[in-house]
Amino acid sequence: MPSDLNAGVYPARPSFYSPPDRAPSGCARRERSGVIVYSKTKALMARGAAFLGTEHAILCGAMSWVSERNLVAAISNAGGFGVIACGAMTPELLDREIAATKELTAKPFGVNLITMHPQLFDLIEVCARHKVGHVVLAGGIPPKGSVEAIKAFGAKVLVFAPTLALAKKLLRSGADALVIEGSEAGGHIGPVSTSVLAQEFLPALAEEFVVFVAGGIGRGEMIAAYLEMGASGVQLGTRFACATESIAHPAFKKAFFRANARDAVASVQVDPRLPVIPVRALKNNGTEEFTAKQREVAQLLDAGEVDMGEAQLQIEHFWAGALRRAVIDGDVENGSLMAGQSVGMVTREEPVADIFAELLTQCEAELSRR
Ligand SMILES: Cc1cc2nc3c(=O)[nH]c(=O)nc-3n(C[C@H](O)[C@H](O)[C@H](O)COP(=O)(O)O)c2cc1C
Repeated sequence: MPSDLNAGVYPARPSFYSPPDRAPSGCARRERSGVIVYSKTKALMARGAAFLGTEHAILCGAMSWVSERNLVAAISNAGGFGVIACGAMTPELLDREIAATKELTAKPFGVNLITMHPQLFDLIEVCARHKVGHVVLAGGIPPKGSVEAIKAFGAKVLVFAPTLALAKKLLRSGADALVIEGSEAGGHIGPVSTSVLAQEFLPALAEEFVVFVAGGIGRGEMIAAYLEMGASGVQLGTRFACATESIAHPAFKKAFFRANARDAVASVQVDPRLPVIPVRALKNNGTEEFTAKQREVAQLLDAGEVDMGEAQLQIEHFWAGALRRAVIDGDVENGSLMAGQSVGMVTREEPVADIFAELLTQCEAELSRR
């Protein structure tokens, strides 16, 4: 277990499931070689898969503390796209994590960098040294020069955008692809649901640009729907967090298996003067502690003991520590159990390859019904 890993700043019930050793019925086809072909899914994912250099256009979104070498390599080895969560790692730690991931997979994977990281440009340099093919810039608008610095070493840049206008601006000024992430997702979230974002962004952008949809995706039928709307692929986090290959503590995984959609709640902002980005996590003692933390920081702000930047940094450090306590130490009472609303569809530990087979089989069946 990598105890020195990322101090992330940030931050089923499967009825159609066909185990991968059996030919799925009615839709996916098993070739003579034994390889299962998801032809309709593949056709709709072709653009996203070409962009990522993968077999399937399915990303496992970076999850601080969870998305380290083991899970990232397992995702990429299964034909998807794993992404290392850099979080608050130092450049040295990121360097080690990329090198260790390369030891476990020869397939493409990406690195997620948080835009507010004070050493962002040093982290970009580490990615350049390792010839990382794709960098995801998360947590805010990319600072001046960051997109250019990434493209300068030939990597592709994926960005998030809260509004259509900003998405267009970023894509026209150099970003190579967009991830739209709805409020159903686990971790830091925006206010708008995935279904509304998809209706707003995909008709406007999907023809010209590569767009991945994230947030609330737990089954392949949902993947099929977004692909048919023009998405190049999808990004899932919650569904992969408890895979066999995930290093998350057994107690963290157990909490996921027990939870329902309604247990994954968004944090509330207690003081309007202190804008905090909401975080979706399973309700526990840690949720209450966050409310208390906000009050404490608001008081410091009132007393003039901290400025707004420092206040927000303290909030982010709270999340980073709390997530580590839950994921690594297994403190599911006081730590942060960041999880999306799809958590109710995560019922047991499964190898990444089985999760892929299940999602792809469901997606293919859905596309074959139409
Ligand atoms: C435990 C956890 C930690 C996360 N940490 C990060 C992070 O560090 N950076 C980031 O960009 N997204 C983070 N996310 C969001 C995921 O990358 C992904 O976009 C999201 O989980 C997709 O929605 P879903 O949870 O509904 O599948 C996190 C999500 C979870 C569940």
